[in-house]
Amino acid sequence: MPIAVLVSGAGSNLRALIAAAERSGFPARIVLVVANRPSAGALGIARAHGVEALALPVSGFDGDAAARDRAIRDRLLVTGVRLVVCAGYDRVLDRCLLEAFPDAILNLHPSLLPAFGGGMAAVEDALEAGVKVSGCTVHLLAPGATDTGPIVLQAAVPVLEDDDADTLRARIHEQEWRLLPEAVALWCEGRLRREGRRVRILPAPVGQPGR
Ligand code: GRF
Repeated sequence: MPIAVLVSGAGSNLRALIAAAERSGFPARIVLVVANRPSAGALGIARAHGVEALALPVSGFDGDAAARDRAIRDRLLVTGVRLVVCAGYDRVLDRCLLEAFPDAILNLHPSLLPAFGGGMAAVEDALEAGVKVSGCTVHLLAPGATDTGPIVLQAAVPVLEDDDADTLRARIHEQEWRLLPEAVALWCEGRLRREGRRVRILPAPVGQPGR
């Protein structure tokens, strides 16, 4: 299954996804990585693994984010991408992208949604709120408010007494590296069925190992 990954930053989740995709039997192949920032470390990770990677900053579109997203959409469609994965992508996607890939865009968020959604400081906000448990969420992107799409998978981590944003983020990252490839595999195997706001995970076919 050809998939694309949208990135903005260091790309540790992209690295985890590439590692998973390189294992035999993984049902997805990363055919394209798109960054909204030319400085994104993720671009170098992709290229080092032979994955086509391009930067499409909004500055190349006179600051018109919708025009940039139309360009991303067109590139994804031409490349034959079936699933889009936002792995640390820090822009809200334009409607044109959501409509081109209904129920086919996965997003990763560093909190247990619906807590601490809608912003760029989920880890800091969780600490500030004094929660004892946080984590990460993989969800489907759908039109509407940010970070409200149907939840696919979640993993919880404890918030420890001495945590700061860096230590909590590192603990969450470790779960993300496991959770995102798992969600991608489930999607590609056709094992996610959306029923309204809920996503049902279907059992693995007989004879195939469960995830
Ligand atoms: C992840 O924590 C993700 O949840 C958030 O941005 C971070 C990206 O990290 N949206 P990386 O670039 O994959 O290392």
